[in-house]
Order: sequence, then C-alpha cells, then structure tokens
Amino acid sequence: MSNESVGTESFATEEKKTVGKKVRVAIVGCGGISETHIKAYTKIPEVEIVAGVDIKPERLTVMKEKYGIENLYEKWEDMLEQIKPDAVDVCTPNGVHAPAVIAAANAGCHVLTEKPMAMSPAECEDMIAAAKKNNVKLVAGFQFRYHPTTKMLVRAREAGEFGDIMFVKCQALRRRGIPNWGVFGQKELQGGGPMIDIGVHIIEAAHYTMGSPKPIAASGNTWTFMGDKPSKTVSSWPNWDWKTYTVEDMAMGQIRFDNGAIMQIEASFCAHIKENIFNFSFAGTKGGGNWDPPGIFTDRFDTMINATPNFLPKSEFGSLFVDKLQNWVNAILLDTPLEAPGEAGLAVQKILDGIYRSAAAGKEVTID
Ligand SMILES: NC(=O)c1ccc[n+]([C@@H]2O[C@H](COP(=O)([O-])OP(=O)(O)OC[C@H]3O[C@@H](n4cnc5c(N)ncnc54)[C@H](O)[C@@H]3O)[C@@H](O)[C@H]2O)c1
Repeated sequence: MSNESVGTESFATEEKKTVGKKVRVAIVGCGGISETHIKAYTKIPEVEIVAGVDIKPERLTVMKEKYGIENLYEKWEDMLEQIKPDAVDVCTPNGVHAPAVIAAANAGCHVLTEKPMAMSPAECEDMIAAAKKNNVKLVAGFQFRYHPTTKMLVRAREAGEFGDIMFVKCQALRRRGIPNWGVFGQKELQGGGPMIDIGVHIIEAAHYTMGSPKPIAASGNTWTFMGDKPSKTVSSWPNWDWKTYTVEDMAMGQIRFDNGAIMQIEASFCAHIKENIFNFSFAGTKGGGNWDPPGIFTDRFDTMINATPNFLPKSEFGSLFVDKLQNWVNAILLDTPLEAPGEAGLAVQKILDGIYRSAAAGKEVTID
C-alpha cells in the first residue's frame, strides 16, 4: 500500500487494519527509558516483546522478573542471530545508538533509536544508509512532535497563520538537574551534556514546527563550572558522579537557516537562573507562538490578539511514548508515513554538532 493511499485515513482505521498482525520487538539497552517503552508497548497490541539485551546482568534480571521477558542476552549479535526479531528498539547510551542500529538494520530489522539519534551527523548518515540498504524503517525517538501543542502549532503554520517564521527561541534550562544515574556526565558515551540530552527535545519540536528548514551555520559556547565538583547545595537529584563528569553544565547557541531564520538555543543541567524552563517561542511575519503555555499571537480586526487553546487532548494515544512507538509500528505494518524518520534525526544532529563545533572553535562554523 502506498503512503498516499493511507495518508488521509485516521489512526483508528489503521488500527483496525493491524488487528491480528504482530511485530516481534527486541529491546537493546534495558535501563530507565526502556521501562517507559515496555509500559507503552502494553498499550500497543500489535507488539510482542521477544528479547532484551544489556551488558549489565542486573538489568536483564529486572527484565525477566518485572516484565517476564525470557530471552535475555548480553550481546546484540547473539540476540539478532538466535531470535531474529522483526524490529529493534535501541535504548542504550547515545554512543551505542549507531553500532546497535546498524547491526539491527543489517540483520533486516526495523529500528527505533532513542534521542538524540547518535553522537554525530556522520553516524546518523551511516545509520540512514544501513536502513536504506536493508529496506527497513528507521525512526528517531522524538516524542515531542506528537505533543498536541506541537501538532496545533504545525497545523497553524501550514495554514499560513505565522507567515514566514523569522526567529525561534528554544530553552531547555534546569537550575540544578544533573542526572544522578546512567552515564549522562560522560562525554565519550553521550557526546555532550544538556545541549545534546535535553536541548535536543526542544530543538526537534521547534525545528519541526518551523517546517524543518536547512541549518547552514552555528555559533555557540559551552561552560562547565559545577558538575565536575562535589556540591553541598540541596537539590532533587543530588550526588551525581562528579568524578567522571566531562560534559558541559550550560550551552548557549544560535543557528542560521537557509531561509534566513534564526534559532537561539539555551540548555543547562545547572545554571544560576530563577527556575527551570522547557519551552520554545517564535515570531513570524504574520504571527507568533509559544509552546508552553500554548499560545498564538496575531493581528485580527485591527487588533493584537492572543489566542490560547480552550482544550487540548493529552495526546493521540494517551501518552507521547505510545504515540511515537505506535507511529513506528503502523509504519512497519501498514507502510504509513514516519513522523520522525532518520533524516529528521540527522537535521537535529547537525544543529547540535554545529553548536559544539563552534564552542570548540570559538567562532561561527558552517553546517554542511
Ligand atoms: N525520550 C526521552 O524522553 C528519553 C528520556 C530518557 C533517556 N532517553 C535516552 O535513552 C537512552 C538511554 O537512557 P536511560 O536513561 O535509559 O539510561 P540508562 O543508563 O538508565 O540505560 C541505558 C542502558 O543501556 C545499557 N547498555 C550500555 N551499553 C550497552 C551495550 N553495548 N549493549 C546493550 N546495552 C547497553 C546500560 O547497561 C543501561 O542499562 C539515551 O540515549 C537517552 O538520551 C530518552
């Protein structure tokens, strides 16, 4: 079935078409976010979880005891060979996304990788090439493009409500929020700190809302002033591993797009600011908008009008994670369009990479 022939149909119709069909999914990386995925899969009857892979035996024990997953492996090579899943959901640290995705694609599996897609644009390109070569669906795990506010703003942009979007401000700011689990402070495993870990979320939602223009130049800087030292300050995530901390505490940047638009990005794990902020706002030639709280700002009847939604649903399938996994499953079973294909992950990765390259170079850099 072609994408065009199902593009206008509702998800409800698609759901009916998937009745009786199953996707056998294996999870690679059985840590914190994999549990969120496993819980979301319980709402997707088409999915059967057939295996789990983790280098830590204790995480495999959790998979068996808490979720009843029987086929457990320490190496994805063994799992791919023995289980032959239809699809692989990669929930490892960022530095392991590319090798796991490429191995799964080469084994003929559809692949979803958690955000950010990888450590660099080159890795993303290799992942996209492997998916194309093997004719499998590759998805970047960007859940905020399924958010009802993002969807409303996209519909408004497509209807011409904003004219040309000229300026976007993205903020993913924590006053004190260095993860005290996992390897989020280790640059060689994560690629960076708040810019790549939480900035990525708001960048992808904003970039999608803008209509995904092409980034051409980046300018930015990063600073580490707190995470690599012990701290006595009371916070909700205390006792992070400061001895292995090699990422930035705070990153600021600006992206120039080929249509002349500018995106400013602010991201922090810690910063001396009044409060946490997770938002993007923008201004276009005809109107502007804000993500949280949602709003549209235009001129009507010779008057400046601020419009706010009276009601927004939670999300199409009740949770952003169910939405993003269901979109992948529907694409696998029905060849419906992917909301966040590998190419979307690559565009966002170019933005992240540009900011980090500019910070290292101390000047504006071009983006290929
Ligand atoms: N979409 C979201 O909102 C969201 C939220 C949190 C994390 N994430 C992403 O999910 C990924 C994992 O984050 P997390 O919080 O679950 O971290 P985590 O540390 O809790 O889990 C990662 C797991 O991967 C395992 N692992 C490491 N190397 C492996 C390998 N070679 N093979 C198999 N398993 C391996 C680790 O042992 C660990 O159990 C990251 O990329 C992160 O950015 C996304």
